[in-house]
Amino acid sequence: MKNLKNNLNKKLTDQINNSIQTMIAGLAHEIRNPLNSIKGASEYLNKKYSNLDDVKEFTDIIINEIERLDKYLNEFLSFSRGVKLKLKKVNLENFLSGIIMTIKHSIPVDVGIFVEKNLPDIYIDPEQMRQVIVNLLSNAKDAIINIKNPEIKIIARKIKNKVHISIIDNGHGIKSDDINSIFVPFWTTKENGLGLGLAICKSIIEKHKGNISVRSKLNKGSEFIISLPLIEQRK
Ligand SMILES: Nc1ncnc2c1ncn2[C@@H]1O[C@H](COP(=O)(O)OP(=O)(O)OP(=O)(O)O)[C@@H](O)[C@H]1O
Ligand SMILES: [Mg+2]
Repeated sequence: MKNLKNNLNKKLTDQINNSIQTMIAGLAHEIRNPLNSIKGASEYLNKKYSNLDDVKEFTDIIINEIERLDKYLNEFLSFSRGVKLKLKKVNLENFLSGIIMTIKHSIPVDVGIFVEKNLPDIYIDPEQMRQVIVNLLSNAKDAIINIKNPEIKIIARKIKNKVHISIIDNGHGIKSDDINSIFVPFWTTKENGLGLGLAICKSIIEKHKGNISVRSKLNKGSEFIISLPLIEQRK
Protein backbone atom coordinates (compact mmCIF):
# COMPACT_ATOMS: atom_id res chain seq x y z
CA MET A 1 0.00 0.00 0.00
CA LYS A 2 2.77 2.37 0.96
CA ASN A 3 4.65 1.47 -2.25
CA LEU A 4 1.56 2.13 -4.33
CA LYS A 5 1.14 5.51 -2.67
CA ASN A 6 4.80 6.38 -3.28
CA ASN A 7 4.54 5.34 -6.95
CA LEU A 8 1.42 7.44 -7.41
CA ASN A 9 3.13 10.36 -5.72
CA LYS A 10 6.10 9.99 -8.06
CA LYS A 11 3.91 9.73 -11.17
CA LEU A 12 1.90 12.76 -10.12
CA THR A 13 5.04 14.76 -9.38
CA ASP A 14 6.50 13.88 -12.81
CA GLN A 15 3.27 14.83 -14.59
CA ILE A 16 3.00 18.13 -12.74
CA ASN A 17 6.67 18.79 -13.54
CA ASN A 18 6.19 18.19 -17.26
CA SER A 19 3.14 20.40 -17.71
CA ILE A 20 4.55 23.21 -15.63
CA GLN A 21 7.88 23.03 -17.45
CA THR A 22 6.22 23.52 -20.84
CA MET A 23 3.98 26.30 -19.67
CA ILE A 24 6.60 28.42 -17.96
CA ALA A 25 9.18 28.06 -20.72
CA GLY A 26 6.97 30.15 -23.04
CA LEU A 27 5.96 32.57 -20.32
CA ALA A 28 9.52 33.24 -19.16
CA HIS A 29 10.68 33.99 -22.70
CA GLU A 30 7.84 36.46 -23.23
CA ILE A 31 8.57 38.30 -20.00
CA ARG A 32 12.32 38.54 -20.44
CA ASN A 33 12.45 40.90 -23.43
CA PRO A 34 10.23 43.70 -22.13
CA LEU A 35 11.95 43.38 -18.76
CA ASN A 36 15.32 44.00 -20.37
CA SER A 37 13.96 47.12 -22.10
CA ILE A 38 12.59 48.46 -18.81
CA LYS A 39 15.95 47.78 -17.16
CA GLY A 40 17.88 49.54 -19.93
CA ALA A 41 15.61 52.60 -19.76
CA SER A 42 15.82 52.74 -15.95
CA GLU A 43 19.61 52.51 -16.00
CA TYR A 44 19.73 55.35 -18.50
CA LEU A 45 17.55 57.59 -16.30
CA ASN A 46 19.46 56.51 -13.19
CA LYS A 47 22.73 57.71 -14.70
CA LYS A 48 21.43 60.78 -16.50
CA TYR A 49 19.58 62.17 -13.46
CA SER A 50 21.88 60.83 -10.75
CA ASN A 51 21.90 64.34 -9.23
CA LEU A 52 18.12 64.24 -8.63
CA ASP A 53 17.53 62.35 -5.39
CA ASP A 54 13.97 61.25 -6.20
CA VAL A 55 14.82 59.91 -9.63
CA LYS A 56 17.89 58.11 -8.28
CA GLU A 57 15.95 56.57 -5.38
CA PHE A 58 13.08 55.28 -7.50
CA THR A 59 15.14 54.06 -10.45
CA ASP A 60 17.36 52.20 -7.94
CA ILE A 61 14.22 50.43 -6.69
CA ILE A 62 13.13 49.61 -10.25
CA ILE A 63 16.56 48.22 -11.15
CA ASN A 64 16.81 46.11 -7.97
CA GLU A 65 13.35 44.67 -8.45
CA ILE A 66 14.09 43.86 -12.10
CA GLU A 67 17.21 42.03 -11.00
CA ARG A 68 15.11 40.01 -8.57
CA LEU A 69 12.61 39.16 -11.31
CA ASP A 70 15.50 38.24 -13.57
CA LYS A 71 16.79 35.79 -10.97
CA TYR A 72 13.35 34.17 -10.83
CA LEU A 73 13.21 34.02 -14.63
CA ASN A 74 16.59 32.29 -14.69
CA GLU A 75 15.26 29.72 -12.24
CA PHE A 76 12.11 29.27 -14.34
CA LEU A 77 14.14 28.84 -17.50
CA SER A 78 16.62 26.36 -16.13
CA PHE A 79 13.71 24.38 -14.71
CA SER A 80 11.86 24.32 -18.00
CA ARG A 81 14.77 23.95 -20.41
CA GLY A 82 14.96 20.59 -22.09
CA VAL A 83 18.25 20.15 -20.29
CA LYS A 84 20.66 18.73 -22.85
CA LEU A 85 23.72 17.37 -21.16
CA LYS A 86 27.25 18.30 -22.14
CA LEU A 87 29.11 15.51 -20.39
CA LYS A 88 32.68 16.00 -19.26
CA LYS A 89 35.07 13.90 -17.24
CA VAL A 90 35.25 15.47 -13.80
CA ASN A 91 37.36 14.96 -10.71
CA LEU A 92 34.86 15.36 -7.87
CA GLU A 93 37.28 16.80 -5.32
CA ASN A 94 38.31 19.62 -7.70
CA PHE A 95 34.78 20.11 -8.91
CA LEU A 96 33.31 20.48 -5.41
CA SER A 97 36.07 22.68 -4.03
CA GLY A 98 35.82 24.88 -7.14
CA ILE A 99 32.14 25.46 -6.42
CA ILE A 100 32.75 26.23 -2.75
CA MET A 101 35.51 28.69 -3.67
CA THR A 102 33.10 30.74 -5.75
CA ILE A 103 30.15 30.78 -3.35
CA LYS A 104 31.77 30.69 0.08
CA HIS A 105 31.18 34.42 0.61
CA SER A 106 27.44 33.72 0.64
CA ILE A 107 27.55 30.84 3.16
CA PRO A 108 28.07 31.69 6.83
CA VAL A 109 29.99 28.48 7.69
CA ASP A 110 32.99 26.66 6.24
CA VAL A 111 31.65 23.85 4.11
CA GLY A 112 33.64 20.65 4.76
CA ILE A 113 34.32 18.52 1.69
CA PHE A 114 35.13 14.84 2.20
CA VAL A 115 35.81 12.89 -0.96
CA GLU A 116 36.70 9.23 -0.62
CA LYS A 117 40.28 8.45 -1.59
CA ASN A 118 40.72 7.07 -5.12
CA LEU A 119 37.17 7.91 -6.11
CA PRO A 120 37.07 7.51 -9.90
CA ASP A 121 36.34 10.54 -12.10
CA ILE A 122 32.73 10.86 -13.17
CA TYR A 123 31.03 11.99 -16.38
CA ILE A 124 28.65 14.86 -15.70
CA ASP A 125 27.53 18.14 -17.18
CA PRO A 126 29.57 20.42 -14.88
CA GLU A 127 27.42 23.53 -15.45
CA GLN A 128 24.19 21.78 -14.63
CA MET A 129 25.54 19.71 -11.79
CA ARG A 130 27.02 22.89 -10.34
CA GLN A 131 23.52 24.29 -10.21
CA VAL A 132 22.36 21.21 -8.30
CA ILE A 133 25.09 21.58 -5.68
CA VAL A 134 24.52 25.34 -5.39
CA ASN A 135 20.75 24.85 -4.92
CA LEU A 136 21.29 22.20 -2.25
CA LEU A 137 23.85 24.34 -0.44
CA SER A 138 21.51 27.31 -0.62
CA ASN A 139 18.80 25.23 1.10
CA ALA A 140 21.31 24.00 3.68
CA LYS A 141 22.31 27.59 4.33
CA ASP A 142 18.67 28.58 4.91
CA ALA A 143 18.20 25.56 7.19
CA ILE A 144 20.99 26.53 9.59
CA ILE A 145 19.73 30.04 10.30
CA ASN A 146 19.63 30.52 14.10
CA ILE A 147 21.09 27.07 14.73
CA LYS A 148 23.69 26.61 17.48
CA ASN A 149 27.00 25.37 16.03
CA PRO A 150 25.77 25.21 12.45
CA GLU A 151 27.46 22.76 10.12
CA ILE A 152 27.28 21.97 6.41
CA LYS A 153 29.33 19.26 4.77
CA ILE A 154 29.58 17.35 1.52
CA ILE A 155 30.59 13.71 1.45
CA ALA A 156 31.31 11.85 -1.80
CA ARG A 157 31.92 8.12 -1.93
CA LYS A 158 31.55 5.09 -4.12
CA ILE A 159 28.80 2.67 -3.24
CA LYS A 160 28.72 -0.38 -5.52
CA ASN A 161 28.62 1.01 -9.07
CA LYS A 162 27.36 4.42 -8.01
CA VAL A 163 28.78 7.63 -6.69
CA HIS A 164 26.88 9.12 -3.78
CA ILE A 165 27.23 12.79 -3.06
CA SER A 166 25.61 13.82 0.23
CA ILE A 167 24.94 17.40 1.21
CA ILE A 168 24.40 17.40 4.95
CA ASP A 169 23.28 20.10 7.35
CA ASN A 170 22.40 20.12 11.02
CA GLY A 171 19.62 22.65 10.48
CA HIS A 172 15.88 22.81 11.15
CA GLY A 173 15.06 19.62 9.25
CA ILE A 174 11.88 18.75 7.38
CA LYS A 175 8.55 17.65 8.89
CA SER A 176 7.76 14.05 7.93
CA ASP A 177 4.40 15.20 6.50
CA ASP A 178 6.28 17.53 4.14
CA ILE A 179 8.92 15.10 2.86
CA ASN A 180 6.79 13.98 -0.11
CA SER A 181 6.11 17.55 -1.20
CA ILE A 182 9.56 19.10 -1.27
CA PHE A 183 10.35 18.10 -4.89
CA VAL A 184 7.00 19.37 -6.20
CA PRO A 185 7.48 22.60 -8.20
CA PHE A 186 6.48 25.75 -6.33
CA TRP A 187 6.18 23.97 -2.99
CA THR A 188 7.94 26.15 -0.47
CA THR A 189 7.91 27.02 3.22
CA LYS A 190 9.96 30.17 2.66
CA GLU A 191 8.56 33.67 2.47
CA ASN A 192 10.84 34.56 -0.44
CA GLY A 193 11.18 31.07 -1.91
CA LEU A 194 9.96 30.01 -5.30
CA GLY A 195 9.93 26.33 -4.51
CA LEU A 196 11.81 25.47 -7.68
CA GLY A 197 15.30 24.68 -6.37
CA LEU A 198 14.71 21.00 -5.61
CA ALA A 199 12.50 20.44 -8.68
CA ILE A 200 15.40 21.74 -10.81
CA CYS A 201 17.88 19.47 -8.96
CA LYS A 202 15.65 16.46 -9.49
CA SER A 203 15.21 17.12 -13.18
CA ILE A 204 18.96 17.63 -13.78
CA ILE A 205 19.95 14.55 -11.78
CA GLU A 206 17.41 12.36 -13.53
CA LYS A 207 18.77 13.50 -16.90
CA HIS A 208 22.08 12.13 -15.63
CA LYS A 209 20.30 8.82 -15.01
CA GLY A 210 20.71 9.30 -11.30
CA ASN A 211 18.36 10.02 -8.46
CA ILE A 212 18.08 12.22 -5.41
CA SER A 213 16.74 11.19 -2.04
CA VAL A 214 16.46 12.82 1.34
CA ARG A 215 16.79 11.84 4.98
CA SER A 216 15.71 14.41 7.48
CA LYS A 217 14.81 14.77 11.13
CA LEU A 218 13.01 17.76 12.49
CA ASN A 219 15.36 19.97 14.54
CA LYS A 220 18.30 17.66 13.80
CA GLY A 221 19.10 18.27 10.14
CA SER A 222 18.89 16.90 6.65
CA GLU A 223 20.91 14.88 4.19
CA PHE A 224 20.27 15.11 0.46
CA ILE A 225 21.85 12.18 -1.37
CA ILE A 226 22.63 12.41 -5.06
CA SER A 227 23.26 9.00 -6.57
CA LEU A 228 24.92 8.85 -9.99
CA PRO A 229 25.81 5.79 -12.02
CA LEU A 230 29.54 5.27 -12.18
CA ILE A 231 30.16 4.27 -15.75
CA GLU A 232 32.97 4.98 -18.15
CA GLN A 233 31.11 7.22 -20.59
CA ARG A 234 27.41 7.87 -20.75
CA LYS A 235 25.79 8.55 -24.13
N1 LIG B 1 18.22 21.35 3.78
C1 LIG B 1 16.93 21.60 4.06
N2 LIG B 1 16.52 21.69 5.35
C2 LIG B 1 15.22 21.94 5.66
N3 LIG B 1 14.24 22.11 4.75
C3 LIG B 1 14.60 22.03 3.44
C4 LIG B 1 15.94 21.78 3.03
N4 LIG B 1 15.98 21.75 1.68
C5 LIG B 1 14.71 21.98 1.28
N5 LIG B 1 13.88 22.16 2.31
C6 LIG B 1 12.43 22.39 2.25
O1 LIG B 1 11.97 22.13 0.94
C7 LIG B 1 11.31 23.27 0.39
C8 LIG B 1 11.53 23.30 -1.10
O2 LIG B 1 12.90 23.57 -1.39
P1 LIG B 1 13.28 24.24 -2.79
O3 LIG B 1 14.74 24.41 -2.83
O4 LIG B 1 12.61 23.48 -3.88
O5 LIG B 1 12.54 25.65 -2.75
P2 LIG B 1 12.87 26.91 -1.84
O6 LIG B 1 14.24 26.78 -1.24
O7 LIG B 1 11.72 27.09 -0.90
O8 LIG B 1 12.85 28.09 -2.92
P3 LIG B 1 13.90 28.31 -4.11
O9 LIG B 1 13.11 28.18 -5.38
O10 LIG B 1 14.43 29.68 -3.87
O11 LIG B 1 14.95 27.25 -4.01
C9 LIG B 1 11.89 24.45 1.16
O12 LIG B 1 11.01 25.55 1.15
C10 LIG B 1 12.07 23.85 2.57
O13 LIG B 1 10.87 23.84 3.27
MG1 LIG C 1 15.88 26.24 -2.49
